[in-house]
Amino acid sequence: MRRVWVTGGAGFIGSHLVRWLVRHYPHWAIHTLDALTYAGHLANLEDLQGAPNHHFHQVNIADRAALEALWESVPPDWIFHLAAESHVDRSILSPLDFVHTNIVGTAVLLELARHRWTDKTDKLFYHVSTDEVYGSLGEEGYFTEETPYAPRSPYAASKAAADHLVRAYGHTYGLPYIISNCGNNYGPYQFPEKLIPLTIMNLIERQPIPVYGKGENMRDWIYVEDHVRAIIRLAEQAPRGRTYLISAQNVRRNREVVELLCDLYDALRGTKDSRRLIRFVQDRPGHDYRYALQPSSTLLDLGWQPEVDFHEGLRQTLEWYQTHQSWLNAVRTSAYHTYYQKQYAHRLSSS
Ligand code: NAD
Ligand code: DAU
Repeated sequence: MRRVWVTGGAGFIGSHLVRWLVRHYPHWAIHTLDALTYAGHLANLEDLQGAPNHHFHQVNIADRAALEALWESVPPDWIFHLAAESHVDRSILSPLDFVHTNIVGTAVLLELARHRWTDKTDKLFYHVSTDEVYGSLGEEGYFTEETPYAPRSPYAASKAAADHLVRAYGHTYGLPYIISNCGNNYGPYQFPEKLIPLTIMNLIERQPIPVYGKGENMRDWIYVEDHVRAIIRLAEQAPRGRTYLISAQNVRRNREVVELLCDLYDALRGTKDSRRLIRFVQDRPGHDYRYALQPSSTLLDLGWQPEVDFHEGLRQTLEWYQTHQSWLNAVRTSAYHTYYQKQYAHRLSSS
């Protein structure tokens, strides 16, 4: 039996990874570790209730004593590390939260692994990271595994620091690790602060849809389950001590993504005027222009390919949010409404 920890398993990507592991590896013990911040919700895992191979622990990864105690009772063989503060706009508002969880939290986990994994046979520290560590591209080109790090937002800098720590522990202490850097994920259970779920929420509620700047910025989009399948493939088969890039090579301008969602919504609901909700608003400070990744040849050689076409993925995502409005209402606390006001009220009033 392999015992697996998934940190951040009650978040967006983490919950899809946990679901995949629980369903495909019934003989493994899957332990979700999550602090249940504003972005983590047990509702994201509610279909796993009663699964005998899944266990949930509410714990902060920066709390060393709590993690030590957990390690004592359920020591992991593999750790998938996803717990993080993940939203760039929030990192601009409160950078220290990002330093604390993404850097200190990762360091605490690494320290435990260093001291506790004296026998490193079949051990794995898998760090889920982002393409934002590489900075911003112009109109041409792609990030590759060799691209130098050049993070530009507090979020990106905190993830870059975490990547460097993982690599340093591999080099110095022989920690068996994998880092994968991926572009923008979308799909069910994504918190409605990110572009796609926020657009869908505002389409459903017929509210203005804020697009930063002129909507010219580009992101490399991937359906969350394609990302999860890539993570599993790498964890199962890829050489340790390396970094891999995951991408569906699906680079789109923000304006195109939002317009596509408006048109899909109109087609599904028989409306015609959704694009009229779009508002071009004051830009994000330091907004990275373009991300585009060349997926690692190792990943492609292992037979991984994205399976979900962008239009189909957006359609499924839109339908999921339409049929899960109770989830949307449950995750939007008063703190969310305060954040939304702070982030958008002035932008929308002057658009
Ligand atoms: P998310 O914000 O939806 O979820 C993060 C989870 O981490 C939440 O459940 C939250 O409760 C938990 N968490 C936060 N701080 C914690 C702490 N101190 N201790 C324990 N748990 C804590 O994020 P996501 O979009 O699912 O991203 C997951 C990981 O993937 C992150 O590391 C992120 O940097 C990375 N990533 C995300 C994307 C993307 O497009 N969303 C792309 C590439 C990489
Ligand atoms: O690239 C991977 C990263 O993608 C992940 O590491 C991050 O965790 C994840 O949050 C995401 O970062 P982005 O900043 O790219 O995602 P976000 O959804 O916030 O924004 C996507 C694009 O849309 C970006 O160019 C900013 C723009 N945007 C975003 C919001 C929230 C808008 O135009 N309007 C908005 O309201």
